[in-house]
Amino acid sequence: MYAIDHRDLGTPASTATGKVTLEIDGHAVSVPAGTSVMRAAALAGRQIPKLCATDTLDAFGSCRLCLVEIEGRRGYPASCTTAVAPGMKVRTDSPQLLKLRRGVLDLYLSDHPLACDTCPADGHCELQSVAAQLGVTGSRLPSGGATQRGVSADASNPYFTFDPDTCITCSRCVRACRDVQGTFALTIEGRGFASRVSASQRETFLGSECVSCGACVEACPTAALTEKSRIALGAPTHVVKTTCAYCGVGCSLEAEVKDSVVVRMVPARDGAANHGHACVKGRFAYGYATHADRVLHPMIRERITDPWRVVSWDEAIGRVASEFRRIQAAHGPGAVGGITSSRCTNEETFLVQKFVRAALHTNNVDTCARVCHSPTGYGLKSTLGESAGTQNFASVMHADVIVVIGANPTDGHPVFGSQMKRRLRQGARLIVMDPREIDIVRSAHVAADVHLQLRPGTNVAMINALAHVVVTEGLANDRFAEERCEVDSWRRWKAFVAEPRNSPEATEAVTGVPAALVRKAARLYAAGPNSAIYYGLGVTEHSQGSTTVMAIANLAMATGNLGREGVGVSPLRGQNNVQGSCDMGSFPHEFSGYRHVSDGATRALFEDAWRVPLSGEPGLRIPNMFEAALDGSFRGLYIQGEDFVQSDPNTRHVVAALSAMECVVLQDLFLNETSHYAHVFLPGSSFLEKDGTFTNAERRISRVRKVMEPLAGLADWEITLRLAQALGFPVHYDHPSEIMQEIARLTPTFRGVTYEKLDRLGSLQWPCNDAAPEGTPTMHVGAFVRGKGKFIVTEYVATPERTTSRFPLLLTTGRTLFQYNVGAQTRRTANLEWQSEDRLEIHPDDAETRGIADGDWIGMSSRTGDTVMRAVLSTRMTPGVVYTTFHFPESGANVVTTEYSDWATNCPEYKVTAVEVVRVENADAWRTRRRAERTERAAPVGRTP
Ligand code: SF4
Ligand code: SF4
Ligand code: SF4
Ligand code: FES
Repeated sequence: MYAIDHRDLGTPASTATGKVTLEIDGHAVSVPAGTSVMRAAALAGRQIPKLCATDTLDAFGSCRLCLVEIEGRRGYPASCTTAVAPGMKVRTDSPQLLKLRRGVLDLYLSDHPLACDTCPADGHCELQSVAAQLGVTGSRLPSGGATQRGVSADASNPYFTFDPDTCITCSRCVRACRDVQGTFALTIEGRGFASRVSASQRETFLGSECVSCGACVEACPTAALTEKSRIALGAPTHVVKTTCAYCGVGCSLEAEVKDSVVVRMVPARDGAANHGHACVKGRFAYGYATHADRVLHPMIRERITDPWRVVSWDEAIGRVASEFRRIQAAHGPGAVGGITSSRCTNEETFLVQKFVRAALHTNNVDTCARVCHSPTGYGLKSTLGESAGTQNFASVMHADVIVVIGANPTDGHPVFGSQMKRRLRQGARLIVMDPREIDIVRSAHVAADVHLQLRPGTNVAMINALAHVVVTEGLANDRFAEERCEVDSWRRWKAFVAEPRNSPEATEAVTGVPAALVRKAARLYAAGPNSAIYYGLGVTEHSQGSTTVMAIANLAMATGNLGREGVGVSPLRGQNNVQGSCDMGSFPHEFSGYRHVSDGATRALFEDAWRVPLSGEPGLRIPNMFEAALDGSFRGLYIQGEDFVQSDPNTRHVVAALSAMECVVLQDLFLNETSHYAHVFLPGSSFLEKDGTFTNAERRISRVRKVMEPLAGLADWEITLRLAQALGFPVHYDHPSEIMQEIARLTPTFRGVTYEKLDRLGSLQWPCNDAAPEGTPTMHVGAFVRGKGKFIVTEYVATPERTTSRFPLLLTTGRTLFQYNVGAQTRRTANLEWQSEDRLEIHPDDAETRGIADGDWIGMSSRTGDTVMRAVLSTRMTPGVVYTTFHFPESGANVVTTEYSDWATNCPEYKVTAVEVVRVENADAWRTRRRAERTERAAPVGRTP
């Protein structure tokens, strides 16, 4: 358990460095200039009554409860909107102040139901607290609240309610939605007693622009906005601080718990990645963890056509050990392998790769990061020297120009998306490079200066064109490049990008983007002065994914946009622990800390620690494992938390490979699409059921803390431990902290990481070692990790995937806010109310020529497969390009994606598939047929023997 300090200081901290000394109630107080009198008083231990102020929002000064007396000033200024001044003498308490405050409160209470005993906010209502503080028990005034009463409560949002009766129109929710979330969904309509909170144009919350981030609920001082879970479950008994298990932002959350049941999730105000904010997934969509679909017993079967048989843990673990031993005896150590999960903790991931290397004696270990950010590792390591992003999220607040390439922050990384929008509202300029008009291109009070709406698959040509302008128009930072980078590589690259074939005019035919726009973007980026690039899977999931990452790093080096705050190259990692799973040695050629297995000294270090000889030959990557399975040389696979059949491209190929294996072991929360091809099912544990750490996209290591015991009896790390022991490898840990001790001993970038330090400091950004005992927020300061930065020539090579007369459209894929990845978690939550199916976005021109109307069922085919879903007519895409998500197995969008992959890392080319789309008359028949195929694959669960 973790002690949480929830003291609200009333107004945000001032960022000023100078101090001001004043006197509050006779005591001298020194605070940063710009601090409010309210905050200064709170820091001095004086609690001024307040209602409309909270320290997460700028002061508004509407409730008039926080009045104070200031010597030499007339009247009673509001302490929340009055800044401190040198020598100021403040009185926070006096008979006159008490009288005034009681009068104000009387008005509030006259319009408020006084039914505290039955109110869900009882015990955490600020109105109730203030009334107690001022000794007020009721109103002497006649009720003026007839206007709010009678307006029915809005329970449309599945996670929280709005009850106008208890609303005090303080506008904290309106300001939270505007300033914290950046959605601007709420307003206060009307005046006086008639004023009320309204979502969009008097819509329900669910029907409005609201994205259910919960910031308004968090800000509300009364029961007006309350979590439904809080109403249903009552007050929590304790708080456990942990880290969100969804995306790579890694929000710090406080789980409020009652008898091992989560009453609600509250974003931690001191969370370094999220600063008290969260999104609909982290804050509300945690119900999957206790969903009835959870499988809570190990199961085995001889053949994938047999029914599952529920067995004991001992029998299941024993089966895996005997099968893997049998396969290895017959076909050699390399006939088996393992997959680590980017959803699991660092400790669990480290343990899986240790199990594979040390207990199975093979380097056949890979991670689901293979299919998302493996090009990031390769590209950034080759150019800058480290396989990770260069900045922390807060750095964006110092950026003058923000470049978003192939990422959709408001949907994929919502809390960072909100922070980015805040910076944009402050005046930073925005360049978006994306085939689709994502929300940030044009949303409330935010608009991109340039949207480079390029054709899918032409990223390298586009970035080379940007670099061409930088170099040929004399916009490069030659001094930075010559001092900080390998001069030969700089000159070679400079000559390459300056070639006329890389000019915006020459590449226009390839990218489809007018040359003038490209020149405008390049000039804007080069002018900065602080320009920061954020990119996502729209960069990596291409046949030239690694090349694009290198091209981005080249551009940043050429303009000197590295090594300080406000600049950099930041990959927005998809899953919660993608960074961590890569750091922990999940790739077949690398130990933890990205050290090659062929390096004798590194291998000796691990051999010494693990007391076992290790192979210096890189093992198989996931696609190679599938190929080897089809040719009979790979027969056993341990999969921790991954659904290849839904998430990997070319589903038929994946299914054929899995079907060819003799022992597929799946460790997961649910029976997923891949489970149809498994022989052993080991029930995994959710993030609520274990201790450990996750590493987010900023390299930030944060603690995951156990809220409840593992529902199936074992945490994921304990299962892997049992497997290793069953295979005869002598290893034991009592707690994940011991695994972290081993990671720290064996990994230079983690040398200074301990649970004690994480508890003390909240989080740590690696490298964390003797040189940086409290971590490293910004990388490559003064010098690159590899010494000199290396420019790499990035020749554009068109993807082999081309449109043809048979497949004339290009399909690109992405995510949405409400669903997540293959949907295993979010499909088991009320997030279905926002999105319950994948849909195909198609331009009206393309739709018209095919006779497709909005909402029609369409069949989509590529040369690898076909699927059916409904169409949405949208001008977010240019004609010729269509878009969908891959959250639902019913549509299984990856049925159509191809086998093409990044030349360096095999990361699949999800983002470019040539397809044709036709209107489907009888979608039901097609769906029924497809569902029957799926049901056929899914064998029934047998009885306990
Ligand atoms: S809903 Fe809550 S936060 Fe919003 S105005 Fe009413 S009381 Fe204030
Ligand atoms: S939940 Fe978030 S988006 Fe919705 S109204 Fe509240 S603050 Fe705005
Ligand atoms: S932004 Fe990402 S980490 Fe934060 S709450 Fe949402 S899903 Fe979780
Ligand atoms: S708290 Fe200062 S005016 Fe409301």
